[in-house]
Amino acid sequence: MPVNVLFYAPQYRPNLSSMIRTAEFYGLDTVYIVDDNNLLLPLTHSKKARADMAHMARVWTAGAIEFVTINKIEDPNTFLQNYKGRKIATLVDDSAQFLSDFEFQEDDLIIFGSERDGLPENILPLIDQSIYLPTKGNTSCLNVAVTFGIVLNQAIGQ
Ligand SMILES: C[S@@+](CC[C@H](N)C(=O)[O-])C[C@H]1O[C@@H](n2cnc3c(N)ncnc32)[C@H](O)[C@@H]1O
Repeated sequence: MPVNVLFYAPQYRPNLSSMIRTAEFYGLDTVYIVDDNNLLLPLTHSKKARADMAHMARVWTAGAIEFVTINKIEDPNTFLQNYKGRKIATLVDDSAQFLSDFEFQEDDLIIFGSERDGLPENILPLIDQSIYLPTKGNTSCLNVAVTFGIVLNQAIGQ
């Protein structure tokens, strides 16, 4: 099932790298990112930026970043308004549809929030559906990169 994914303001490069690697593993050739935390520094930014990005590419994504187009979204509201398929938010909210019951459709855009804040309130009116991974323990919230792997496995598998 070809789907698209949007990383909304991830905060940590290891998580972002892990998501890029997983996306590539599952055959996605493009990912979208709202890079509010400047995790993807231009190589011309500084010597440290070049070193950080090289480390990210070689070590954390194990080279996967070379095979994925990373599409930075500067104006998320316009991007979401114009997106042709359904916009699906992953939310830590037990009133959202459980992942196991969810039927993905071609061209769904699955959106993942930031580690601290989740998704910002202002984009929620632009969302068509939301999904939740129910806990069987006491911890309701997963690491975003772990969530990404579980959701993508289900979406691609369908
Ligand atoms: C660490 S969580 C965000 C926590 C934030 N305090 C909140 O309540 O939204 C980071 C991201 O991982 C995903 N996520 C984590 N646990 C999830 C769950 N149980 N169901 C759905 N998405 C989840 C969502 O994309 C979320 O925005």
